[in-house]
Parts: sequence; structure tokens; C-alpha cells
Amino acid sequence: MPRIVFLSVSGQVLATIAAEPGATLIDLARAHDIPLHWRCGQGTCGTCRVKIRHVHQPRVADISRKERNVLIRHGLLSDAAVVETAIDDVPDQWRLACHLVLDERDWEVMVPPPAD
Ligand code: FES
Repeated sequence: MPRIVFLSVSGQVLATIAAEPGATLIDLARAHDIPLHWRCGQGTCGTCRVKIRHVHQPRVADISRKERNVLIRHGLLSDAAVVETAIDDVPDQWRLACHLVLDERDWEVMVPPPAD
């Protein structure tokens, strides 16, 4: 059972949750009243951006076309990534909580304040 730690930008622990693999990160955050801002809940608006950290980083990870395109549209991934099917999975990379499915790994999740 993965342990998901939600952190503020300043590093304050917002919550530590024992999660079930297979859930999306956005659903976990919503179920535990984590202040992770979201709008569409369907992976298209780009509001639910987070940064994640886990022990397998750095690595190359697959990314869906939909998540990639939303990240590019919001300037959170370079335009050069448009032809890529994978990204560098590093702690500084923005991801979308709607698209992140929990597995057996423990994650630290940095929750930013809402974008303007
Ligand atoms: S809430 Fe819209 S992309 Fe996640």
C-alpha cells in the first residue's frame, strides 16, 4: 500500500495517506480534502498540476498524449516534447493529478497554490 505525502511549496506536510494502488492522484486528494486545485477532473484544463518525487527518479516515463498536450499548452513542458511519448520523470517536472495513477510506490506530492 503506497504512502502518499502531500506537501506545500514550503515543504509543510499537508497530509500523509496510505493509498490504494489504481486510484488517480486527484481522486485521492479530493477524498482527503487536500487543497489541490482542479476544475475539469478529466485531464484537459491543466489546473491540477503537481510535482511528484519518488525513489525511482530520475528515469524516463511514458506519458499520455493528452497529458503531454495539456502540459505543453500551459507551458509546463517544452514544445519539443510534442513528438515524444516519454518524458524525464524528475522531481521538477510538472504532472497532472488527473492523469497520475497510483502504483506501489511511495510518492511525495508538492501541491502548488492556485495559478492565476
Ligand atoms: S482538473 Fe483539469 S486537468 Fe486535472
